[in-house]
Amino acid sequence: MSLTEQAERLAAEAASAFDGASSEADLFQLKSRYLGKKGALAALLKEIPRLEPAERSTTGAGINRAKKLAEAAFDARLVSIKDAALASNIEGLDPTAPPRGRWKGHLHPVMRAWQEIADIFVSMGYSIHEGPEVDTDWHSFEALNIPAGHPAREMQDTFYIRDSQEKLVLRPHTSPVQIRTMLQAKPPVRMICPGAVYRVDNDTTHTPMFHQIEGLVVDTHTTMADLKGTLAAFAKAYFGPTAEVRFRASFFPFTEPSAEVDVSCVFCDRSGSAGCKVCKDTGWLEVLGCGMVDPEVFRAVGYDPDVYQGFAFGMGIDRMAMLRYGIDDLRLLFKNDLRMLEQF
Ligand code: PHE
Repeated sequence: MSLTEQAERLAAEAASAFDGASSEADLFQLKSRYLGKKGALAALLKEIPRLEPAERSTTGAGINRAKKLAEAAFDARLVSIKDAALASNIEGLDPTAPPRGRWKGHLHPVMRAWQEIADIFVSMGYSIHEGPEVDTDWHSFEALNIPAGHPAREMQDTFYIRDSQEKLVLRPHTSPVQIRTMLQAKPPVRMICPGAVYRVDNDTTHTPMFHQIEGLVVDTHTTMADLKGTLAAFAKAYFGPTAEVRFRASFFPFTEPSAEVDVSCVFCDRSGSAGCKVCKDTGWLEVLGCGMVDPEVFRAVGYDPDVYQGFAFGMGIDRMAMLRYGIDDLRLLFKNDLRMLEQF
């Protein structure tokens, strides 16, 4: 058999040996056996000087051609072994799984209460409105039947913005959004407006900034019974099916009649007994103010008070969060202490 024929055989043998290699290490071992400096093909090249001079160059070319074929077989097998290894690593790996070990934030308890309360009213068909936190004196007071110099102004310790031409204030309640909504839309109106409000106040149950959700319904046959039914349904949805509401006569300049609403104490189950710190053993928690929209408010926005009636209510979102999650100091909500916030 000529050297060229031997080389071709060796190359074919090498190619099938490479194909049979099951690991990269095996494959490299086979490579040195066939293609290495001291390998089988190199050994054939060393035979060339013993040939007739006329045969040397064609034989050399033949052996090198065979060597190239074996090298190509080696390269192909190396790629396929690497691909298989990669594929078996990926197997069992879920590329849609969330990354592990990452710190993840969550909603602040006030925002959670905000969203839950809003969801309840949205499910009853209310839309959500927003208004500016810096508003005019007219929207915040005058249009709500609280004229300048009237003692009712003292109900809220307002931040006035000095020397503003339009007489601007940091809104002390969300009620100006009632006015803005009615100026924009014709009845029927059924809206809530959540947002931040500001008052010159600071103790365990008051902070200079807090949050309210106001509700307003205006239509042609709206009664106090609708108001009571709405708030009773809301209390059950937010505090649980056993929650009850109690209405106490009150006063707000923009509603007539007006009421304070209490919810049965969720901490002592309204037993009103032995040391409930939250309801102070009264069995009731004060949660919001409400009433039938005063005709003067309708006149201020151009609604005919002989045609339309409505009700409005306003509650503190922060207070709702405190009652829901058993937080006893309002200021804790705004200290941004992670030891407290991470409990929610
Ligand atoms: N704006 C009142 C407050 O902040 C709450 C309220 C809203 C009362 C709507 C009646 C109707 O105290």
